[in-house]
Amino acid sequence: MGSSTLRHIVRSQQFEPEWLDQLFLRAQELKQLKLKGGQWSKTLQGKRMNAFFYQPSTRTYFSFLAAMQALGGQVIGTENAGIFSSAAKGESLADSIKVLGSYGDVIVLRYPEAGGAKQAAAVSSIPIINAGDGPGQHPTQALLDVFTIGEHHQDTRKLVVTLVGDLANGRTVHSLVYLLAKMGVAKFIFVAPKLVGMRPNILQHVHDHGIPFEETESLDAAIAQSDVIYMTRIQKEYFGDRIEDYERCRGRFVITPDVLAGAPSSAILMHPLPRVGEITPEVDADPRAIYFEQAANGLYVRAALLEWVLEVW
Ligand code: NCD
Repeated sequence: MGSSTLRHIVRSQQFEPEWLDQLFLRAQELKQLKLKGGQWSKTLQGKRMNAFFYQPSTRTYFSFLAAMQALGGQVIGTENAGIFSSAAKGESLADSIKVLGSYGDVIVLRYPEAGGAKQAAAVSSIPIINAGDGPGQHPTQALLDVFTIGEHHQDTRKLVVTLVGDLANGRTVHSLVYLLAKMGVAKFIFVAPKLVGMRPNILQHVHDHGIPFEETESLDAAIAQSDVIYMTRIQKEYFGDRIEDYERCRGRFVITPDVLAGAPSSAILMHPLPRVGEITPEVDADPRAIYFEQAANGLYVRAALLEWVLEVW
């Protein structure tokens, strides 16, 4: 069933810099066309995307659907596969994926366990795009994050990148660190409550790439030297019944206008969203707050990615 020639998107370590350049060029082209009110050509006409989501999603789900439709493709799927698919009857992921291969040209999968996308890719007859696999990875988010960073800063190798929040369970930061480690940055600063610090295997990966890093609980000191500040939510769904631990972590690091006043004027403040208190709404007016622009970029990057996966380029 599975074929290694299929263009699966499973983890962000798979992206090569030259490929990224091409992807971002196409994404920027689509963005400029859209901003100027132009129409995208229907490069994905006759193609169908299966959106198979086991976990809630706003940005990832809607931007993939919007991208596919805007390029002339069709979409089918569910936002709640745990209820609206045979998963509710106990069907395995592998069986569902084998079946869905007959109904479309690409599967965009969000799954609650790390390794879900890899497992799906191993048995799928059509490309799998990992739209988040539990606390594992979220490679398409890393793509749009790096695209967005590139719109504000020319050379990632000069950047001090600070990641804040649930670094143990946050798949967005896992994928982003893997990708930025490959591209090279000046330094990572990891700011997290001790309970949810960055995973040791990822720290090792950063070290192996020769990139200096710091782990700290001092948000003020970190952002004072940051070019990129990447906030994340404490991932409540992975705490189970450890409500007290969750409450202890939540609210530990919050960006308010006062806190952001300590960041360089050229810094950018990012968040994959949804935010649940890590950035107060008053911060939105600050020109450094670019998280809504970041979310909007998901449409262009995912459109370019769908074209690549479906072999338009
Ligand atoms: C993230 C996710 O689902 O991992 N959301 C997203 O796709 N932008 C972040 C999160 O849920 O905290």
